[in-house]
Amino acid sequence: MSEFQTLQYEEQDKVGVLTINRPDKLNALDATVLSELKTFLSQAATKKLTGLILTGSGEKAFIAGADILAMTTMDAKAAGEFGRLGQNVSVMFEYLPYPTIAAVHGFALGGGFEMALSCDFIFASEKAVFGLPEVKLGLLPGFGATQRLARRTSPAFAKEMVFAGKNLTAAEALTRGIATQVFADKAALLQGCRDYLAVVAKNSPLAVGIAKRVIDQGAQTTLEQGLALEAIAFSQLFTSQDMKEGTAAFIAKRSAVFKGE
Ligand code: COA
Repeated sequence: MSEFQTLQYEEQDKVGVLTINRPDKLNALDATVLSELKTFLSQAATKKLTGLILTGSGEKAFIAGADILAMTTMDAKAAGEFGRLGQNVSVMFEYLPYPTIAAVHGFALGGGFEMALSCDFIFASEKAVFGLPEVKLGLLPGFGATQRLARRTSPAFAKEMVFAGKNLTAAEALTRGIATQVFADKAALLQGCRDYLAVVAKNSPLAVGIAKRVIDQGAQTTLEQGLALEAIAFSQLFTSQDMKEGTAAFIAKRSAVFKGE
């Protein structure tokens, strides 16, 4: 994937690691990064991965937000396009058909926090800092946090963070359910992501992908509609090779070999 100036991508054992690579600007998201992410994610959507880890280069930041310098020259129309591009990228992360983990070390501010919230969950290092400082710039979060943070925590907590532009430590993010695991440093964090995905890799990729879709769609519906989605997906899996293999392997007391079919 050397076609990208601002992204690095490595794949090992069906685990992808995508690194935003603008360390001199703390990995801030300008139109180039967002366009490259869009291209990358359209390719990534067709890959058969166990999972994707999103991280930032360097020791200081995951992503320090949308590029403030770039925004100073935008008019309302250009800002609308920039915001929609950021939101499109966030939705493309969400729709990847396999697990995604944001590995947050250092600053995850503004659009950086928003990209992390677009992943299935966030693992953090003890040095992670989460914040939505947009109101300090006369702006509001524009890549999804007004909606996703409110849904992941509560509207009241999202307001508390957004109104004050206040930062959270890794420990606070853990308490709030924003991060689900915290590791000592960046190396341990990336290893923790890999270890988690190594556990997922033993399971049916078909079942994992469908479970992701049902959980995501259900979070946007009533309980009744969500249960209906679950019931359909549950019965559909009975037509899969993976279900036959998983149950047969259990009965035969052997390890299952899943094909994702
Ligand atoms: N957009 C553009 N450039 C950014 C950036 C952003 N969001 N965040 C950091 N940078 C750049 C700085 O301008 C600086 O560039 P320079 O060396 O050419 O001057 C470089 O990254 C290093 O940042 P610096 O501010 O010197 O590091 P610091 O350790 O003193 O502070 C932060 C780190 C994260 C606290 C600080 O950079 C910051 O507040 N960034 C903006 C965060 C923000 O408001 N994000 C939301 C945007 S909507």
